[in-house]
Amino acid sequence: MADEKELLLSVQDLKKQFGEREILKGISFDVKKGDVVCIIGPSGSGKSTLIRCVNFLEQPTGGVIAYRGQNVLESFKNLALYRTKVGMVFQQFNLFNNMTVLENCMVGQVKVLGKDKDTAHSTAMKYLEHVGMASYINAKPHQLSGGQKQRVAIARALALEPEVLLMDEPTSALDPEMVGEVLAVMKELADEGLTMVIVTHEMAFARDVSSRVIFIDQGVIAEESSPEEIFSAPKNQRTKDFLSRFNLGKQ
Ligand SMILES: Nc1ncnc2c1ncn2[C@@H]1O[C@H](COP(=O)(O)OP(=O)(O)OP(=O)(O)O)[C@@H](O)[C@H]1O
Ligand SMILES: [Mg+2]
Repeated sequence: MADEKELLLSVQDLKKQFGEREILKGISFDVKKGDVVCIIGPSGSGKSTLIRCVNFLEQPTGGVIAYRGQNVLESFKNLALYRTKVGMVFQQFNLFNNMTVLENCMVGQVKVLGKDKDTAHSTAMKYLEHVGMASYINAKPHQLSGGQKQRVAIARALALEPEVLLMDEPTSALDPEMVGEVLAVMKELADEGLTMVIVTHEMAFARDVSSRVIFIDQGVIAEESSPEEIFSAPKNQRTKDFLSRFNLGKQ
């Protein structure tokens, strides 16, 4: 159907074991173009492991990750190339400390996508402007605040022009006064239609910005629904208990 949104990512019965411990016990969900999926859940429930498996920073022990209908491990010889399609922003920024802001945003474009330096430069500038960091191009990461570093990390991920952006608690390493500036950038990207999967403890963001919320508990999806539904009338008792810890005001 013409109005059917394209299926970009499909996670099918994903399992991950560390030694004897099964951390992910069969997780399945789809991500369509334009979706903003927020993943919430208690500490230790497997959220980071899930997002790392989707990006193959961890090898799943079972299940399939498909990108545009193709099993990633079969269709991408080069995982670095897959990671330009399905990009990632980490809690701890993971910028290259010995490179400038501009170099951080160019290196992947040149090395992985094979872009020439001029093109990489103008693409980097476009996304640095987008996150309000264009005037810091010659700075090294240690000269920036946490919020600025995270905005550069977002620009670096965007410069590869991914179809899906994965984020693992992008604001939880920040001082409280820096959180707003990063959430504002993320909201803008969502409003522009960027497809994102975001692990977050920012419940107001999940409620107000996401198109779908997935509650992970003890390695399974305990509940998946629209933000309206999950925040006003959660079906699962463990979702209720989890959400009651956050001050979300009256619904
Ligand atoms: N490399 C690893 N080796 C062994 N166990 C691991 C490894 N990584 C994660 N785990 C375990 O897997 C479980 C899930 O961890 P994970 O980091 O995915 O949780 P999380 O939901 O992201 O928690 P948080 O909200 O605190 O970030 C934890 O019990 C953790 O100790
Ligand atoms: Mg985590």
